[in-house]
Amino acid sequence: MKITLHSPLDMHLHLRDKEMLKVVAPLSSKSFAGAIIMPNLVPPITTIEQVKNYREEIYASTKEDNFIPYMTLFFKDSYDYDFLKEVKGFITAIKLYPAGITTNSEGGVSGLDSKDLAMTLEAMSELGIPLLVHGESNGFVMDREREFVTVYERLATDFPKLKIVMEHITTKDSAELLDRYPNLYATITLHHLLITLDDVVGGLLKPHLFCKPIAKRYEDREALLELALNAHPKVMFGSDSAPHPRSKKESCGCAAGVFTAPIALPALAELFDKYSKLDNLQPFVSDNAQSIYGITPPKKEVVLAKESFKVPSSYGEVVPMFAGEELSWKIEEVR
Ligand code: NCD
Ligand code: ZN
Repeated sequence: MKITLHSPLDMHLHLRDKEMLKVVAPLSSKSFAGAIIMPNLVPPITTIEQVKNYREEIYASTKEDNFIPYMTLFFKDSYDYDFLKEVKGFITAIKLYPAGITTNSEGGVSGLDSKDLAMTLEAMSELGIPLLVHGESNGFVMDREREFVTVYERLATDFPKLKIVMEHITTKDSAELLDRYPNLYATITLHHLLITLDDVVGGLLKPHLFCKPIAKRYEDREALLELALNAHPKVMFGSDSAPHPRSKKESCGCAAGVFTAPIALPALAELFDKYSKLDNLQPFVSDNAQSIYGITPPKKEVVLAKESFKVPSSYGEVVPMFAGEELSWKIEEVR
């Protein structure tokens, strides 16, 4: 059995920079037609100059592949209309992190009162720049996303023209928001469709499955599967593939992030096949994102075949999800 995906997109991707970027960027650009590139470098991407340099760095490692890096800025409440108007041509969205909530987010927003954010969010609304949100409070780890629901509701109500993407949703509560607010959208990762907290800490600790937001309960995973497998039109695939060197994962103080870029499409095909939903993979991995963002990615056909694929134990210093295991689908050809 085979399927062909047209211009798959990864709407939430960490490529890092320098040597790490050289290893991981080609693993995405080979099989994806484009990706939303996260700005949480050290220091974070906050200026036009940084956006341009980072884009050049990505192109240098992916130029053979007909791949568009859709660039983002790291949200600051000091961005005004004039700055945003100037930067708009170079970016696709702006990513908001609550301060200190995840990897390299120290410079994020400390109060989430929409009055403090109003100048920037109003300008983004007017200019049609989507807001991407890491939606976690600083409460108890299993409650962080649920506690953020009121923030999403307030943002969606106060800025009705702003497109707001709830990034990497992991709970039933977030899933339920989608049909209640016309301007709320969501990305879902591969790993949150596959695992629960049990897989991370229920047996021996699995550092390579540790990420933010942490995987939740079975009923949460069910709600995410329901959205993804039925290709809910407000939902997009965003891998949140977040590479860290093995030494930072298999260590005391494990960094958060699951590396899935090179296995994402075969693993998604396996999942959608298992539920007899392969027809919905195309909207989930590309069409929905094209309509939501109003983008037209380069043409790329990815042929996936139902044949065994042994996942490498590492890519450079990075260990992928399913390292050393067999998947039942593989990428046969990209054209
Ligand atoms: C991401 C990273 O490593 O940059 N980590 C993660 O666990 N997902 C940051 C993020 O998206 O939260
Ligand atoms: Zn991320």
